[in-house]
Amino acid sequence: MSQLMGGKVALELVKPNRYRVHYHILLGTKRIGEIELDHIAWRSGEAELKIDIFDPLMHNHGYGTDAIITLLEQAFLTMNLTRIYLRVQASNEKALHCYEKVGFRKEGRLQRLTESNTEEEIFLMALEKARFQNHHHLRAI
Ligand SMILES: CC(C)(COP(=O)(O)OP(=O)(O)OC[C@H]1O[C@@H](n2cnc3c(N)ncnc32)[C@H](O)[C@@H]1OP(=O)(O)O)[C@@H](O)C(=O)NCCC(=O)NCCS
Repeated sequence: MSQLMGGKVALELVKPNRYRVHYHILLGTKRIGEIELDHIAWRSGEAELKIDIFDPLMHNHGYGTDAIITLLEQAFLTMNLTRIYLRVQASNEKALHCYEKVGFRKEGRLQRLTESNTEEEIFLMALEKARFQNHHHLRAI
């Protein structure tokens, strides 16, 4: 099974198809979460990033940031995508901080109704390849 090595975690590829690449996030041999690029649009060079580290005890150890940077290197340098976007609840300060640290910027916001009929605010965030390369001092290709 194909793996991407980060500094702290490894990403193990599961069930890729033309529109989605999905990885298990491994800490040693333990599966601690999942990360994916969904809705891959090859013509426009875009995809949506989603991540979940299952156990809150595993949060705030840098695993999410490491997994995201590792997947973004794959997205921009290997898959040659040019823009990765995501949606995040405005109240999810940890995720927001993590995404901003990696270089994502807020591009818009929307209100949506939850199943319990309360309103929640969602931020749309995006990161372009050139900004990622500048942010992380990667080589331009
Ligand atoms: C969001 C998520 C992927 C982040 O991964 P993680 O491994 O916990 O994140 P990291 O440890 O790499 O980084 C978290 C950062 O947020 C900071 N942080 C934590 N709680 C915070 C808060 N309430 N407000 C602001 N920053 C906060 C941490 O200090 C850390 O920043 P630092 O490295 O500058 O100190 C993970 O917490 C997760 O899977 N959460 C549950 C699912 C989820 O929310 N997914 C995202 C949906 S859009």
